[in-house]
Amino acid sequence: DWTMGNFVEQNIRKVREQVGSGKVICGLSGGVDSSVVAALLHKAIGDQLVCIFVDNGLLRKNERELVERTFRDHFHINLITSDASEQFLRELKGVTDPQQKRKIIGREFIEAFKREAKSIDGAAYLAQGTLYPDVIESGHGYAGTAANIKLHHNVGGLPAELGFELVEPLRELFKDEVRKVGEVLGLPENIVWRHPFPGPGLAVRIIGDITPEKLRVLRDADEIVLEELVSNGLYRKTSQVFAALLPIGTVGVMGDARSYDSVVAIRAVESEDFMTADWSRLPYDVLATMSNRIINEVRGVNRVVYDISSKPPATIEWE
Ligand code: XMP
Repeated sequence: DWTMGNFVEQNIRKVREQVGSGKVICGLSGGVDSSVVAALLHKAIGDQLVCIFVDNGLLRKNERELVERTFRDHFHINLITSDASEQFLRELKGVTDPQQKRKIIGREFIEAFKREAKSIDGAAYLAQGTLYPDVIESGHGYAGTAANIKLHHNVGGLPAELGFELVEPLRELFKDEVRKVGEVLGLPENIVWRHPFPGPGLAVRIIGDITPEKLRVLRDADEIVLEELVSNGLYRKTSQVFAALLPIGTVGVMGDARSYDSVVAIRAVESEDFMTADWSRLPYDVLATMSNRIINEVRGVNRVVYDISSKPPATIEWE
């Protein structure tokens, strides 16, 4: 009798058998997979679990607070936040090439994670949110699969280097099953049904170089897009929705004055596996509200465009 409740009970036993009284480190990103791993492990081994969340300065608005509130305040999980944002932004200064950005972010992430992991005495295990599709796909060469993204941009190579043994309680599950397990474990809806968010974060949604000012503009615009999506009941009907900031200024007019301000693009897609995707037919009224609010509320933006490209050939992200 295969229910998610049974899965949880079974895996709690398995994890206890594997780690005994050992300490386990879990890299928490705020995404569904790592969140479910953290909640499951906490239920299995309580304070033997220490989670590490790296604030890379490239997160969405209020994202760090949501993770801290959920895991530290609600679940009472040992959570270390590594605030590495200054370090990341310093290394990214002036960098425009998307793959170069990813490389720097991957490297800095490992640095920050290692620093925190080393400060935890006697940890022997590292928990990861590897899913079944990651296991079967990891042999394929295409760099756009979820599996390869996890391997290349997250903590690939780290466990061996630090001498950790892996704990991967979700290895047999598909994404929809992971969400069900998350529900059984009492994770809030805004975590269980979270859209994916790339490891490099807002860095690949600011086309061109990254500055604190551009991060402010994009965070505020992106927050408005998400607020309107949620309040119009469209979050669960879409797969991934966000704002991107373009590296051009265009002319606008305010009374007698001409402005030369930034362009924000709204990207909304529907997808089964993120290998292919179709652009979402969001209602015009919702798009109108998003656009009006962004232009009125976010200083520095005078134009909003809607991305109507499917994948392939257009990727979901703009970089
Ligand atoms: P693309 O843009 O290739 O994205 O259509 C497919 C899915 O992968 C996510 N994505 C990334 N995730 N590191 C990540 O962790 C990355 O470098 C990265 N690039 C793309 C993207 O958000 C979408 O869900």
